[in-house]
Amino acid sequence: MSNPYARHNEQSKANFDHVYDLPDPRGYFEALGSLDYLAPEHGRRLFPTLLREIRAEGGPAGVLDLCCSYGVNAALLGHDLTLEDLYSRYASPELADLPTEELAGMDRAFYSEHRNGGRTDTVGADSAANAVRYALRAGLLEAGFGEDLETAEPSGAFEGSVGNTGLVTVTGGVGYVWERTFDRVLNAVAKARPDGRVPWVATLPARLVDYGPLSVLFSRHGLVTEKLSARTFPQRRFADAAEREHVLRELSKLGVDPAGKEEEGWYHADLYLSRPAEQAAKTPVDELFEASGALDY
Ligand SMILES: C[S@@+](CC[C@H](N)C(=O)[O-])C[C@H]1O[C@@H](n2cnc3c(N)ncnc32)[C@H](O)[C@@H]1O
Repeated sequence: MSNPYARHNEQSKANFDHVYDLPDPRGYFEALGSLDYLAPEHGRRLFPTLLREIRAEGGPAGVLDLCCSYGVNAALLGHDLTLEDLYSRYASPELADLPTEELAGMDRAFYSEHRNGGRTDTVGADSAANAVRYALRAGLLEAGFGEDLETAEPSGAFEGSVGNTGLVTVTGGVGYVWERTFDRVLNAVAKARPDGRVPWVATLPARLVDYGPLSVLFSRHGLVTEKLSARTFPQRRFADAAEREHVLRELSKLGVDPAGKEEEGWYHADLYLSRPAEQAAKTPVDELFEASGALDY
């Protein structure tokens, strides 16, 4: 299944395909930054609460980031950097004319200088093999895989690398990746983990996305899915009036109220969390985040 917006109407969504698989991330940050794309910044603020909880429960500490692109979530989770820092870096005139090889070397040094104390080991996967290769060269991923799990089983190397996965994350990717990918990923992680358990899954899809099929899939793997109700997350500005109109029409069909959100010109995303029933029953997702203070920004 492809992009959810595309499913509704291909012409109505800004298309970023041309920047997903470049040799380095400059074009990606330029294109996404021009519409104030923010999803990874929300991940930076939200995912550490989940990782702390998983570790407190004795789960493994690693992240598997699906649709990892050039390692954006790995850069933000493992370093003292914000998304704004990355936008500024990749737009800076000093880096503009560097060959990719040189940029990768400079990025490797840059990220190693900015590593944070609670360094998170992140394995990445994305169908864009060049982007994943860059993330590996920049030292952002423990392991990375240019694989499309919508269309093929994971490689042996992928299966061999995901045994430390406590949390699967996706920002900006649900809809490109769908049931087939998550099914394969959860099977691979359960097979690789010494305790044989599936990981938690946290995603930030746009409010246009019908998460029902994924909730059903996750429940087949023994996970309960909750949507955070406390707030939504501005994802990016609409590219133009046609995109805005299209989104408002689709939301109205879904019975979602766009007031103060999409009506103001922005896609908004929900946070979905899927985890084992006993943990969901103990602390509902809203309580988890209210207690950590991670929603206050
Ligand atoms: C909007 S970008 C999000 C990238 C990154 N997670 C972020 O938030 O900055 C969407 C990503 O999904 C990836 N993608 C599209 N189809 C995919 C597929 N079938 N399997 C894996 N990744 C896919 C694209 O290559 C791209 O990197």
